[in-house]
Amino acid sequence: MSKTPNPLCVSHAEQRIVLAAPSVRVRGGPDPVSLVRRRAIIQMVLIGVLSGVGVALIAYLVPWLPDRASKEAVQIDRVFWFVTFICIVIFALVAAVSIYAGLKFRAAPDDPDDGAPIHGHTGLEIVWTAIPAILVTAISVYSGLVLLDIENIAKEHRTVEVTAQQFAWSFTYPDLGITSQELVLAKDEPVELKLSSKDVIHAFWVPEWRVKQDAVPGIETRLVVTPTQLGPFPVRCTELCGLGHATMLSRALVLSPEDFEKWVQKQKQAAGGGGAATSGKQIFGEQGCDTCHTLADAGSTAQVGPDLDKVLAGKDANFVRESIIDPNAEIEEGYQPDLMPKDFDAKLSDEQLDALVEYLLEATKAG
Ligand code: CUA
Repeated sequence: MSKTPNPLCVSHAEQRIVLAAPSVRVRGGPDPVSLVRRRAIIQMVLIGVLSGVGVALIAYLVPWLPDRASKEAVQIDRVFWFVTFICIVIFALVAAVSIYAGLKFRAAPDDPDDGAPIHGHTGLEIVWTAIPAILVTAISVYSGLVLLDIENIAKEHRTVEVTAQQFAWSFTYPDLGITSQELVLAKDEPVELKLSSKDVIHAFWVPEWRVKQDAVPGIETRLVVTPTQLGPFPVRCTELCGLGHATMLSRALVLSPEDFEKWVQKQKQAAGGGGAATSGKQIFGEQGCDTCHTLADAGSTAQVGPDLDKVLAGKDANFVRESIIDPNAEIEEGYQPDLMPKDFDAKLSDEQLDALVEYLLEATKAG
């Protein structure tokens, strides 16, 4: 190994001089200590600017965020960039000091000396307590103002009741008498979503809209959104809610006002003027059975619960009925009890339950 000292390294003795700078004064001529300090500051500023610009470019040029498809998303992204900017500045500061220190104050290989003893610096401590306090306050005040503003909904708006359950979403339009498995909205129309849950805590999230809200059993939460772009967007559950959490997906379909009207008419016709579904296949989809069970006839391939094509083949109506209203009565090997909702007896009318049982018998007969 070469014995040449690293030119970037200073001995611990030199370090002491730099650190003790204010008390060292050389009479006459240029002050060498202040020269060293000025050079150090310039180098640190350079490192800081380089690292800051570097991460700023990575933050700005890489498309981290999905499309912005709601009015609220614009303001939420502004808060996001405000926080990101603060982070970049702090990162640059920390990078400048630590990279400079790493290069400059590294002990020479033959220097067994301890580092300079440093005691507390009251001024410094006040500064590094005050600055974060100011920043955190600024972030909370700004986010609070944005939240107040986006939750303030126009008088003319649509209301949709969002119901979450393991592991499906359903959307009810109280003024239209429609219940849908997809959230269908008209572009540029403000919407208030009223969220509730039938079992555990779920959370409604459409990344493109940036807004997110929990659905909690027993209380009603709300979310305001004005979609500004057409399209289907994914609806995700973002609260771990059980085995089928990852499959708890739906779709938010944003249509032009004309297409939305057409959709409403079609739904009303399909529901026969707003009554409860009576076709077994429709109930299978509406109650979210398809989000957990595979059933070839319904086109579902979910694997949270047993494959109905297999477990119902050759079974009679009593077995099917009991499996729906008392799911724990008999648990298929390899599956957990208490995963399937136990309230279908209460949720479905006798007529609906009969239709569902009949449908399941029909659909699994061939298999
Ligand atoms: Cu519902 Cu996760």
